[in-house]
Amino acid sequence: MRGCFITLEGIEGAGKSTQAQLLANYLQSLGKPVHLTREPGGCRLAEEIRSLLLVPRSEGMPPMSELLLMYAARAAHVEQTIKPLLAQGTWVICDRFADSSYAYQHGGRGLALGPLDALNHMVLGDFAPDLTCIFDLPPELGLTRAHKRSAADRFEQESLSFFTRARAVFLERAKHNPNRYWIVDATQTADTIQTQLQNRLASLLQN
Ligand code: TYD
Repeated sequence: MRGCFITLEGIEGAGKSTQAQLLANYLQSLGKPVHLTREPGGCRLAEEIRSLLLVPRSEGMPPMSELLLMYAARAAHVEQTIKPLLAQGTWVICDRFADSSYAYQHGGRGLALGPLDALNHMVLGDFAPDLTCIFDLPPELGLTRAHKRSAADRFEQESLSFFTRARAVFLERAKHNPNRYWIVDATQTADTIQTQLQNRLASLLQN
């Protein structure tokens, strides 16, 4: 039986990575084979592209280059890691996926939706997560948390309005497809969020 593909999305400081690890532990405790991965990254080529994307650059990076690098990394990650694992029955939990490109490169950077849809379709076809969890919180809070954690990468240096637009795109996408998306209030404690997430997974686990 094919594994389930679950993606975790949200702006900086939403606590996705913590929840991804807790979720992987939970699924393992149920006896499911699980693979935890992330974007950009998740296979050798994509991890190399990740370094190019995250390092701050005094000369900047054209938004179109950024978008194409995200999808170059995603194409490799999906073909070399995600699809083979799902086919062998492993559950794949991914810290960010295509919704981040819509939120950051369309919402944040202002790239047009039509070409992004076309690129997304060219790379992914009909392939999409079984469940996408949106960890929602006010950008002010997210950025404060993220800045406490480590030195800011190229994205974390963006303005509050960038993340306000990114957040709006995540929520908008979730509104249009309530079956695939689940929104959680990421200002709650990690334990509360994890319990809610495990409850939401019950339907996927029954299949
Ligand atoms: P990361 O350190 O993984 O951020 P976080 O801990 O917040 O998930 O860095 C990934 C950065 O790349 C993050 O700021 C969001 C950005 N990103 C995009 O802009 N577009 C994308 O398609 C993806 C996958 C990530």
